[in-house]
Amino acid sequence: PISQVTCTAPVNIAVIKYWGKRDEQLVLPINPSLSVTLSQDQLCTRTTVAASVDFKRDRIWLNGQEQSIDTPRLQKCLGEIRRLARKRKHEEERSGDLLGCCVHICSENNFPTAAGLASSAAGYACLVQSLARLFGIDGDVSHIARQGSGSACRSMYGGFVEWTMGRAEDGSDSVAKQVAPAEHWPELRVLVVVVNAGKKAVGSTEGMQTTVRTSALVAYRAEHVVPSRQDDMKRAVLDRDFQAFGEITMRDSNQFHATCLDTYPPIFYLNETSKQIIHLVHRYNRHHGKVKAAYTFDAGPNAVLYLLQDDVPEVLALLKHFFPANANNDSERTFVRGLPDV
Ligand code: DP6
Repeated sequence: PISQVTCTAPVNIAVIKYWGKRDEQLVLPINPSLSVTLSQDQLCTRTTVAASVDFKRDRIWLNGQEQSIDTPRLQKCLGEIRRLARKRKHEEERSGDLLGCCVHICSENNFPTAAGLASSAAGYACLVQSLARLFGIDGDVSHIARQGSGSACRSMYGGFVEWTMGRAEDGSDSVAKQVAPAEHWPELRVLVVVVNAGKKAVGSTEGMQTTVRTSALVAYRAEHVVPSRQDDMKRAVLDRDFQAFGEITMRDSNQFHATCLDTYPPIFYLNETSKQIIHLVHRYNRHHGKVKAAYTFDAGPNAVLYLLQDDVPEVLALLKHFFPANANNDSERTFVRGLPDV
């Protein structure tokens, strides 16, 4: 007998960036962050988890390739889910027959892995969600997804999501919360401009460790910039104020990349194409005398543009005009994305 569950989880793109941990084990951030969860139709992870008494050990396959299950992060997620399941069994005196079983996990992304497209976020969110369903755990499990990959906790919810920094030492108050559902701002659109679909140079876990160790700017940012920016961003979202939303998004992306440059030795995630996209967006906005498009970049050169629905054709045409290779190259694609139905 096999019990099995399949879930999908979407990618999220931060507009206030998470960069730096205050606790490596529990994955607790040095600042709060805020993101937009994308719709699942084009960028998502699909994970099937199965449990059976016939399975001899826990195993995992990513995009069809078996991987080691013995990584600290996977073990943490599996361990936390089983601990909660045991607790529930104890409280409810239920049979909990799956508890003694090993699990097999199959996970697939429909987009390039580790290209700075938040694949770990969707991946861990999906893994934790499907394991929670398999073991019958209800309620928020974003604190478990967080321990797989920090940004994953934000993919547990749709729409506009904040990850609170929290103060508790055990991390219990560092969780994801929905600020507003996707329907709150239906005109908002996201363009993902894949500049380079290869693997990124420095992974975010390692990159942010070096930044926290060596950059004075990142400590300043966490203490003096992000707290008020997070409040301003929440207000911009609640007021559907694209001017404020766009400007804060670009400023926060720029400051995150400034902390990467302030890291010693420095980390460069943006390439020449990324910088040209930054200039193009500023020229476009200046031409219109207001913020009509906003860029943000994670730990890689790919641009994510936020804009309003009516401006999508014009911005797509501009991108095709200035970056013609992107239109005809399979590995360089522009995705147009709406917001998800929650
Ligand atoms: C630049 O969540 O991938 O995308 O917690 O070490 O797994 P770990 O890091 P990760 O970092 C994401 C960094 C970012 C900004 C963001 O998504 O907020």
